Amino acid sequence: MYNNIKFEKNEGLATVTINRPKAMNALNEDVLNELLIVFHSIAKDDDVKAVIVTGEGKAFVAGADIAQMSKLSALEGRKMMSLGHEVMNYIENIEKPVIAAVNGFALGGGCELSLACDIRIASTKAKFGQPEVGLGIIPGFGGTQRLARLVGKGMAKYLIMTAEIIGADEAYRIGLVEKLVEPEELIDTAVKTARTIMSKAPIAVGTAITAINKGFDLGMAEASAFEIETFTTAFGSDDKSEGMDAFLNKRKAEFKNR
Ligand code: CAA
Repeated sequence: MYNNIKFEKNEGLATVTINRPKAMNALNEDVLNELLIVFHSIAKDDDVKAVIVTGEGKAFVAGADIAQMSKLSALEGRKMMSLGHEVMNYIENIEKPVIAAVNGFALGGGCELSLACDIRIASTKAKFGQPEVGLGIIPGFGGTQRLARLVGKGMAKYLIMTAEIIGADEAYRIGLVEKLVEPEELIDTAVKTARTIMSKAPIAVGTAITAINKGFDLGMAEASAFEIETFTTAFGSDDKSEGMDAFLNKRKAEFKNR
């Protein structure tokens, strides 16, 4: 069904592996379209409660496909970047936890793909960077925006203007990565993290994602009002009765939709 990605599902946990190792998993239009299709199907699939995104071979994703982009006119380039934004926005806003398990190079569009995920867990072998200015372009899959929001404006400007490729330890130090592990522990750690989140109330987790994403770009007053709305959604769910009853009766909560 897919030519450039692998899709697996195991007890509610989906794994999407970018699978173009000969081109360091570079994102061409075909890969972007397949990512859009797979995430649309994940959104609709009630059996999927969480997602891990990773890369086959020694790269996570080494960026948008430079060979393809080199042949595009400005308008065609704009179309490709719009598709990239559609993919990244969709991944970011899906109300299911998405964890990037960054196994190797996460450069350009690859760093941007990791930024669109909710959480980044990196192997000590991972490398991050936004090398676009060395190619005469700027990040085009949301990097100028999400990187600044995650690590701050100054560090985003530093990384984007110097095009420096940083190691996983530096990425962890600046807050670009939430967890750093040895390469052989990467997938296990991502799975354990996903399973921990999956053991919590699914509606609460989904609304927390939306509250953080939407609230982040609003002023404090509007963001507070938005939190009250999303809180009310969770508060009105059966999971609230179950979670609180379980606490009060000193038992483990059994959430629905899990
Ligand atoms: N696009 C297309 N092909 C790529 C690619 C990319 N982004 N990255 C790597 N490849 C290809 C190489 O051309 C090479 O192909 P051939 O075997 O046919 O020559 C193959 O993958 C293996 O790559 P290398 O031989 O270069 O492997 P390496 O181990 O020596 O280096 C690397 C690895 C440091 C990741 C290096 O490949 C590299 O610098 N890649 C480009 C990184 C980059 O500039 N990314 C940003 C792209 S622009 C972008 O992403 C815009 C945006 O914001 C959306």
